[in-house]
Amino acid sequence: MPIDPKLDAWLATNDQRLHDDLFEFLRIPSVSARSEHKADVAQAARWLHGRLEQLGFTTETIATPGHPVVLAEWRKAPKGAPTVLVYGHYDVQPPEPLELWTSPAFEPTVRDGNIYARGSVDDKGQVWVHVAALEAHLATRGTLPVNVILLIEGEEEVGSDSLAPFIEAHRERLKCDAVVISDSAMFAPGIPSILSSLRGLAYFEIDVTGPNSDLHSGMYGGAVVNPATALARIIATFHDAEGRIAIPGFYEKVKPFPDAVRAGMKQLPFDEAAFRRDLAVDALGGEPGYTTLEKLWTRPTCEVNGLLSGYTGEGAKTVLPGKAMAKVSCRLVADQDPEAIRVLMEAHVRSVAPKGVSVTVTALHGGQPWRADLEGPLYDAAARALEAAFGRAPVIQGEGGSIPVVNDFARLLGAPVLLVGFGLPGENAHAPDEWISQDNFRRGMRAMAGLWDELVRTA
Ligand code: BES
Ligand code: MN
Ligand code: MN
Repeated sequence: MPIDPKLDAWLATNDQRLHDDLFEFLRIPSVSARSEHKADVAQAARWLHGRLEQLGFTTETIATPGHPVVLAEWRKAPKGAPTVLVYGHYDVQPPEPLELWTSPAFEPTVRDGNIYARGSVDDKGQVWVHVAALEAHLATRGTLPVNVILLIEGEEEVGSDSLAPFIEAHRERLKCDAVVISDSAMFAPGIPSILSSLRGLAYFEIDVTGPNSDLHSGMYGGAVVNPATALARIIATFHDAEGRIAIPGFYEKVKPFPDAVRAGMKQLPFDEAAFRRDLAVDALGGEPGYTTLEKLWTRPTCEVNGLLSGYTGEGAKTVLPGKAMAKVSCRLVADQDPEAIRVLMEAHVRSVAPKGVSVTVTALHGGQPWRADLEGPLYDAAARALEAAFGRAPVIQGEGGSIPVVNDFARLLGAPVLLVGFGLPGENAHAPDEWISQDNFRRGMRAMAGLWDELVRTA
């Protein structure tokens, strides 16, 4: 069904004001990872709280051991109407390196039909898609077709540690028939998508310590085990020569994706040469036997995220470093478990660590992988709403990134989870010049406004 023309007209008439609202939200530097931004994170929660209350939601900002959760409820839908929970996050990644931004990270700027700012796509802009869609209903009809719980958290970008306990503690209150999340990207411009999976995460720091001090590389070099070399050797054992992960037991729990899902992925219009060209690399890597999309969506990884050791300043300094450090992340697929992977990683590192250095593995954060069961009225409603707004039916796609809490929602609330995002490939999430397309922002608002009507049409 086409979207209700009243909703459509309201969104068109209020387009500038909805942009202005989003821009206000984007100007608050709610960087959850940095303690110096704690007040800004709190300010973003307060700002959101104020807006949701104005719209008629019963709103509470609930403190957690980390950053607060904003919980807003509207439960006046007709008897028998479903209850939906919309999840998103108001925290953002650090903006550095600042000098690589074309316009400042916290001064939202429109260029070529895109809104540039930290959080524009991840995830404030997509939270705003939902808030605006709900406002369109309330403003034109004074009511919503479904009961709504908005749960917008402030520590997704640092691992959502407080959220599983929060969901558990508020299980009754959060009871719902569907969870809807917009915190991801579409397959391509003009091609909306519904996600069928997310990867999980197990993130480690590996510290190698050798001599009790940096040493003169002439006076000591050759006789003392070099921590940087030791770390490099350890890292080199993570993969075999072909690109498979060589940590014993690593693949044991991996559940293959059904043939039908793999076949569907092969049908997607993916241009591998363009993918390579966009990244300016002359070849791709990874595990043999899988297409690029399969590698990204259906296979686990073990990747170095950061390396630190020795002298890295200008010119040469003849020094044998006393220590070396690596940050390593494993993306996981069902049914791998971050804690089980930690055990395997620690045992493996211990078994390959050379004598003469000491090595520690510290787990930093983890998240479970997730796989959808894409059956039922929620997905049918979403497909119709997306088709009405984007002029074509969505594709089903996997996703290589992680939203740790999705698994908790499915597990603790027992409701189906719909992941429908409005970013685009190349959106620069977590990087300088993050953007969301205005066209997607607008169509996203129409699609999500239409979703609630579609949902009750079939319920
Ligand atoms: N919105 C992303 C997750 C995501 C990334 C979805 C790419 C779709 C495409 C989320 O904010 C995020 O960055 N997640 C982190 C998780 C981590 C901080 C625990 C990730 O994937 O690295
Ligand atoms: Mn996000
Ligand atoms: Mn993110």
